[in-house]
Amino acid sequence: MKYKFSDRVLNVNPSFTLQMATRAAEMRAKGIPVVNFGVGEPDFNTPAHIRNAGKKAMDDGFTKYTAGPGMIELREAIIQKLKRENGLDFNLDQILVSNGEKQSLYNVCQALFQEGDEVINFSPYWVSFPEMVKLASANPIIVKTDSKQNFEPDFADLESKITPNIKGIIMNSPSNPTGGVWREEAIVKLLKLAKQHNWIIISDECYERLVFEESFVSIEKINQNHQIGAEVLTCMSLSKTYAMTGWRIGYTAGDKALTKAMAKIQGQATSCANSIGQKAAIEALTGDQSCVDEMRGNYKARRDVMVSLLNNLPGVECENPGGAFYAFPDFSFYLGKKADGKILEDSFDISEYILGSAKVVTIPGDGFGAPGYVRFSFATSIEIIQDGLEKVKSALEQIV
Ligand SMILES: Cc1ncc(COP(=O)(O)O)c(C=O)c1O
Repeated sequence: MKYKFSDRVLNVNPSFTLQMATRAAEMRAKGIPVVNFGVGEPDFNTPAHIRNAGKKAMDDGFTKYTAGPGMIELREAIIQKLKRENGLDFNLDQILVSNGEKQSLYNVCQALFQEGDEVINFSPYWVSFPEMVKLASANPIIVKTDSKQNFEPDFADLESKITPNIKGIIMNSPSNPTGGVWREEAIVKLLKLAKQHNWIIISDECYERLVFEESFVSIEKINQNHQIGAEVLTCMSLSKTYAMTGWRIGYTAGDKALTKAMAKIQGQATSCANSIGQKAAIEALTGDQSCVDEMRGNYKARRDVMVSLLNNLPGVECENPGGAFYAFPDFSFYLGKKADGKILEDSFDISEYILGSAKVVTIPGDGFGAPGYVRFSFATSIEIIQDGLEKVKSALEQIV
């Protein structure tokens, strides 16, 4: 049977980070040992007390649909969390629990954007941002950032791209793929611009607890502290903080009418977030938090090793990522050079060469709108980081 696919699906790009994971799995299946720096998720198991809450939920028969916006008990736990950790006050009708924050972001794009609308994304961007904007039939406007300053917005570029069609901004600090944590100064500037032009800021804060040098301040909190009055939708996830990627629990906190509109979309798409995951999420948010500090300490030690080894590679420059678990070095020194008799035209070629020669998976920066860069995840052990980067070094030494 031949299908005539919708323009919607024809216009959207597949997730290429998943494609790299598939390549690695194929090589492993052939018995080739592969070092994987491509992963975008914690390598730790979900902490035991959270897993137990999930098991108990199943045993207690908590295996049915819940209220569409999320169980009241979970939304209350989220409200307490937002108060305790972020200094923010919200009511029940301002919280929407979804099947991962990815669904939260999808919901807000569907609820607010349509054909003719434009939405600002900053490059390097997380691969799904522009695609979600396109799935809402709107147009992503790509604004540059400053690689030497935590990949903060290039405000001159932003100002030059302003049109009356812009309705919102999607931002992500700490960032995937750069690990950059924006300074308050840059965020205040952005909030003021958003207020002036009546744009909503959709703030993806899924890496908020993985910040290494200073403590994270939520964008809405900065908005309130500086009395800017911009419209902010705070999007958060349990995936990275509690090593819960497979449980699929994320949420938004924001305006009541917007929350209701997103809940309407979600109600027709997936009804509610998974019930067992919601029970586990209550335990994650209200239980012992020492697991978060422990994991963060591990990521920081791994980051230090990885960044120092990356900076030791000939021609490679890597800024110190302030958060998340990604290093995003500049490999442009190798563009135009020859490896295995073939010119390296872009970062796809560089990642492909590293995979073929060193058997190390990395993610090419071109896919994130960052030519010449390559993403290395340090959500893996120090031994693997040392082994993998030794292999990358030997591979780079063959390039002429
Ligand atoms: C920037 C960013 N936002 C959102 C997500 C998705 O989070 P969730 O697992 O809650 O859907 C990811 C996952 O990789 C991410 O990197």
